[in-house]
Amino acid sequence: MELPLELVNALRLAQRVTVLTGAGVSQESGLRTFRDAQDGLWAQYRPEDLATPQAFQRNPKLVWDWYAWRREKVCQAKPNPAHYALAAMAKRIPKFTLITQNVDGLHQAAGSPRVIELHGNIRRVRCSVCAQVLSQWDQPPDDVPRCPSCNGLLRPDVVWFGETLPQAELEAAFEAAQHCELFFSIGTSGVVQPAASLAYFAQQHGARIVEINAEPTPLTPFADFALQGKAGEILPALVKSAFLAQIT
Ligand code: OAD
Repeated sequence: MELPLELVNALRLAQRVTVLTGAGVSQESGLRTFRDAQDGLWAQYRPEDLATPQAFQRNPKLVWDWYAWRREKVCQAKPNPAHYALAAMAKRIPKFTLITQNVDGLHQAAGSPRVIELHGNIRRVRCSVCAQVLSQWDQPPDDVPRCPSCNGLLRPDVVWFGETLPQAELEAAFEAAQHCELFFSIGTSGVVQPAASLAYFAQQHGARIVEINAEPTPLTPFADFALQGKAGEILPALVKSAFLAQIT
């Protein structure tokens, strides 16, 4: 793919860059995006019907088992060249902020130093009663694990539909969107708020918008540069062109 020279130059000279990623960035690591059809056992459920507080109240075991299955896939997945390219960008741009809607932790696994996780992380759990966060827990053979402090049911430490996003992360994300020269929206369908509004907010504050996505999204007509294709191919090429760095 021919990369716009204007974008390559803008990236090379940029002092402040903010990036928002979505499930498309992990697609080349073998993880399904949210709006892909789900496979196997879970094909009969829609994520929107499992990822809610109401679903957990109704049937905690069903929701726990779905997340346990997804956690297993996440733990087997490896970062792909898109994750590595973003980690490389972080080293070369003075003020670089990476915001993700993904809960898989693959940006950190690729070496990205600081990641704003808007929707939490599936590798952690927290108590549904006292909110204690844990990264290790005892799994009973056929039940939902319980909190060691208060015996409440443990749940994944992720944001469910209808829940508010963590305040500090949200504020940091809008702050970084407000003060950047280039804002990248990568592998996200841009339909879930408030993450979807970050790009428009950045644009209103003077940033140029770069979208990298396999297909057009509602953001595409507003983007200054819309690159259609795979993030794992476009991002390494862009980093190589801008910084003469090879991404493996
Ligand atoms: P989606 O599944 O909605 O969108 C993934 C996007 O990635 C789509 O626009 C695809 O075209 C694009 N895509 C797929 N493969 C790609 C690739 N290899 N390279 C580039 N783009 C690719 O995922 P998100 O936008 O992340 O929220 O979804 C946002 C939120 O909605 C999720 O965090 C989750 C979900 O419901 C919560 O759970 C709160």
